[in-house]
Amino acid sequence: VEPDRFSRTAILTACIRAFHAAHDDPKVFDDFLAHHLVTSEECQSLGIRLSDLSPPAAAMPRTSRTAALPWWIKAIAGSILARARYFEESLEQAIRRGIEQYVILGAGMDTFAFRRPELLRRLPVFEIDHPATQTFKRRRLAEVGLKPPDTLHFIPLDFAKESLAEALKRSAYDHKASAFFSWPGVIAYLRRRDVMSTFRAIADIAPPGSNIVFDYLEEPFFDPDNPHRSVNIVHENLRLAGEPMITGFDPAGLASELSHLGFRIREDMSADEVERVFLRGAAGYHAGLYTHLARAEVEGSPS
Ligand SMILES: C[S@@+](CC[C@H](N)C(=O)[O-])C[C@H]1O[C@@H](n2cnc3c(N)ncnc32)[C@H](O)[C@@H]1O
Repeated sequence: VEPDRFSRTAILTACIRAFHAAHDDPKVFDDFLAHHLVTSEECQSLGIRLSDLSPPAAAMPRTSRTAALPWWIKAIAGSILARARYFEESLEQAIRRGIEQYVILGAGMDTFAFRRPELLRRLPVFEIDHPATQTFKRRRLAEVGLKPPDTLHFIPLDFAKESLAEALKRSAYDHKASAFFSWPGVIAYLRRRDVMSTFRAIADIAPPGSNIVFDYLEEPFFDPDNPHRSVNIVHENLRLAGEPMITGFDPAGLASELSHLGFRIREDMSADEVERVFLRGAAGYHAGLYTHLARAEVEGSPS
């Protein structure tokens, strides 16, 4: 993201969640507040119509309106909904295990802190995002009258310029308390070294037993000769939006790199598994090619 520019892809993913909440049944993930964070005009400019699809889903159970979505958005929507579901389910399990704080990296228009007031009473939440995107979000929240709870902390950070550890040290984040990190839809946009330094920062500031959930794309997604139309059209549209995807990983290599940084991968689902676990029965939505959803645990900082 350029410094003066909030993330258009953060608007895009919120429009997808708002569309799904309004038009599909059953739901993979019900982000019933997403439509407050984006306007119909913003979504319309991306080809996503939030209204005017008749009859409404409520009147027609078990429907999917994905036919109304532009083709390239359909290619990514399933993964975006599946990761939202997986990350929040993993968070809920972590809360039951006694996790004490939640850090959302590249939060975009995430609505967790507003959808789950009962959890926020006990759980400090830290939203980290690029300064331009975070400023945009805070302004939007004020415009629509969504007041951030006292336990929600906003921390502006450019992963390419500053260390996550430094940014969290300036905040109410407690480096002795077990933490849960989520990193939805960000890794592919960053340089490899910024991804790795952020993982390193987490190993430094989160006690053993802390978890991070993240999504990433396998390396063939970044092969310029990849023959799949859906891959090329996604790249092309993101380039046009000014937010090209640049970094992918080989699953085995990533597991070994993370183990050197003090993490153990607890779960790493390929696109087929994501499809089977989260998208079966979600008519019209499919896991994007080369998608992975993963969870890693901090085992201890390497010496
Ligand atoms: C595709 S959006 C995902 C937003 C949100 N996590 C979601 O799933 O809807 C990418 C997010 O990464 C953030 N981002 C991209 N590059 C960044 C950087 N260098 N530093 C901090 N945040 C960055 C953007 O501001 C944006 O919020």
